[in-house]
Amino acid sequence: MSSQKPETKAIRLQTDRTEQKEHSTPLFLTSSFVYDSAENMAAAFSAESPEVNIYSRFSNPTVDEFIQKIAQLEGAADGIATGTGMAAVFSTFMAFLSQGDHIISASAVFGSTHTILTKYLKRWGIEYSYFEMSKPESIEAMIRSNTKMLYVETPSNPGLDIIDIEFVASICIRHNILLVVDNCFATPAVQQPMKYGADLVLHSATKFIDGQGRVLGGVVVGRKELIHELYLFVRNTGPSMSPFNAWVLPKAWKLYLYVWSGMLPAPCNWLSS
Ligand SMILES: Cc1ncc(COP(=O)(O)O)c(C=O)c1O
Repeated sequence: MSSQKPETKAIRLQTDRTEQKEHSTPLFLTSSFVYDSAENMAAAFSAESPEVNIYSRFSNPTVDEFIQKIAQLEGAADGIATGTGMAAVFSTFMAFLSQGDHIISASAVFGSTHTILTKYLKRWGIEYSYFEMSKPESIEAMIRSNTKMLYVETPSNPGLDIIDIEFVASICIRHNILLVVDNCFATPAVQQPMKYGADLVLHSATKFIDGQGRVLGGVVVGRKELIHELYLFVRNTGPSMSPFNAWVLPKAWKLYLYVWSGMLPAPCNWLSS
């Protein structure tokens, strides 16, 4: 498995088969999990990083499979899945920004992200500044002592504005600011922002990751310690992904991945034409 390329892993990676030897990955449509004893249950619930599944708001094997597939494709160590793309955006802001902090964002962002930045963050004393995507050189002058995060969506929805991720990452590294990239429109098949220095990469999985307009979903990937912070936020506040949606999502892009990576088996060649 370790010698496989990320896109191969993203296809092959699968929850352990049960004794039924099912072909399709199992769907753990369960709200919670059982314990051998009340003591084991109490110990699992009190752990900050439990080693077993406890409750599907915290973790679920089907959701984990979806997360690990996206993390492989993005070149990230770990991830967290959410019920919608906006839950991924909002959870990221809430987990890493506090009262008195400042966020710099491209002005070309998805409408609901704009609403969070301009309406809700303000209520909790978090200030924002917008820069134009075509003027990334203007970012540095906006940085303050309380600037904690730089947020970009590239390509942006709906204008398809793009930005040089490596350039903005170099600014973030110089000033010790978290760089968060919404990679929804490019997808990890086309662009992997972590390669260019992003700290966190998020998606509305509702869009191209599903690709068929069936379910809502969101995902954030990044370094282990950052994802642990997000895990604690999601675990306690509840914007978690449904196991059913997590089971549906890879069924769509598994096929696209076969096509993109040229791995499509001969009987299915018509799909790439
Ligand atoms: C770039 C981008 N980010 C976030 C979102 C929000 O995602 P969701 O609709 O899954 O909440 C969207 C939705 O269109 C989007 O296009």
